[in-house]
Amino acid sequence: MPTIKINDVELSVAPGTLVLDACRTVGIDIPHYCYHPALTPVATCRMCLVEIKGQPKLATSCTTPVPPAPKDNPDAVVMEVLTNSPAVADARAGVMEFLLINHPLDCPICDQAGECKLQDYSYDYGSGDSRMAEVKRRYRYEDLGAKIVIDKNRCIHCTRCVRFTREISGGGELIVAQRGAGLEVTTYTGKTLDQNPYAGNVVDLCPVGALTSRDFRFRKRVWYLKSTPSISRHSALGSPIWIDHEGNRVYRLRPRPLEGKETTHFISDEERYAYGHYNRADAAPLPMLKGAPTSFDDVRAALQAAGSVAVIGQGTFGCDAAQRLGDVAASPELRYGSGDRTIPVVLPKYQTSADGILNRRGFTERGFRFGALEELLGKVQAGEVKAVVLLHDAAFTSAKETELLGRILQAASFSLALEVTPSDLGRSATAWLPIASYVEESDFIVNHDGELRRYQKAIQPPQGVRPVAALARDLAAVPAAV
Ligand code: SF4
Ligand code: FES
Repeated sequence: MPTIKINDVELSVAPGTLVLDACRTVGIDIPHYCYHPALTPVATCRMCLVEIKGQPKLATSCTTPVPPAPKDNPDAVVMEVLTNSPAVADARAGVMEFLLINHPLDCPICDQAGECKLQDYSYDYGSGDSRMAEVKRRYRYEDLGAKIVIDKNRCIHCTRCVRFTREISGGGELIVAQRGAGLEVTTYTGKTLDQNPYAGNVVDLCPVGALTSRDFRFRKRVWYLKSTPSISRHSALGSPIWIDHEGNRVYRLRPRPLEGKETTHFISDEERYAYGHYNRADAAPLPMLKGAPTSFDDVRAALQAAGSVAVIGQGTFGCDAAQRLGDVAASPELRYGSGDRTIPVVLPKYQTSADGILNRRGFTERGFRFGALEELLGKVQAGEVKAVVLLHDAAFTSAKETELLGRILQAASFSLALEVTPSDLGRSATAWLPIASYVEESDFIVNHDGELRRYQKAIQPPQGVRPVAALARDLAAVPAAV
């Protein structure tokens, strides 16, 4: 591998590595706007300029590849890069001044304030001064459909959003129109981003506040938000996400890209906007037994008195939950899996599975058998199984499977449903216990590709509501003698 020198550090990288990426590997973050690892580099913003010894002009590090080592001298230093020379500092200050020429000073009302690259780089690399005496360009904000709003005054024409709709989501709804000072990012007349199931990603990609989400706009200043690493529950991909929350309320979900994993850069709008589901509107429902409020101890006593127990675990919960729930079953063969949701594959490169059951693999590894519910129905009807415990979320089960689950619960002498909020199916069980939602607990899953992915508790569950794993552990335990 060729050796390059970045400031005083020598390192070997694969030939063709972009200088910007090589700098990152030694902890030097080159400021950039238009570069994005999942998009074609275009070098429009000029913010990533570096000095390369022997070259007369500064070079854009996002488009400059490291050359191969010479065959006759493989140990030679092929490139010497300076990232903090006076020429580089001068260029960055100049670029910042250009980018800010038309940018309004509306940070106090801009949703991007606090996570804006213009703010950050202006502070780190700008001159702190502007020679712009002319009137700034003005546009009114526009809706790009129901999900996205554009404020063209703030746009710095990095074209990340345009390239995303062309190269990733494929609809090509966004374009760069006009020329020179009139340049603007817009859509073809009459087009919106409403039909784009991945449109929300343009908001994450926009390094400034030009593209904002109708859903999040003006709802919370970002510096009040805490970000908890989690995963999306949308599909078996278990896409890593950030849960942004404050005051025990989730405000938004964002992708949490993993180093070297291009498929983790984007999430669909369906999973992005699913957070509302996890903000509880009402107080947590109480444990129920035969239609009347009761206590956990009474439910456990009723379950333990019922006879041989089978468990049905929906594979949308964590592995710890699966393990503990499995312990409640009278024998390892009496662990059944449920959940049959599938998702449409829109971007095959990013969606390597159509399975809508997040942790099917983790449940399977813990002995839960999917597709065997008819067998369980037979055992219940034959009296071999007396009690059934169902871990369930109605959103991940089809009407057909719900009907089958209902028959199993009705046939059992005793049935217990564990749910975040009671569904019609859960209400039909003999007993019902509330559980924490996945944003209210920490656990891990094994995704479709066999990768272990952890998620952490973002908000507190209501008082008295516990994670499935803790609840199931106590359901399996023999109560202490009084
Ligand atoms: S709207 Fe944002 S992402 Fe799109 S070109 Fe302008 S600054 Fe870049
Ligand atoms: S990041 Fe290199 S020119 Fe924009």
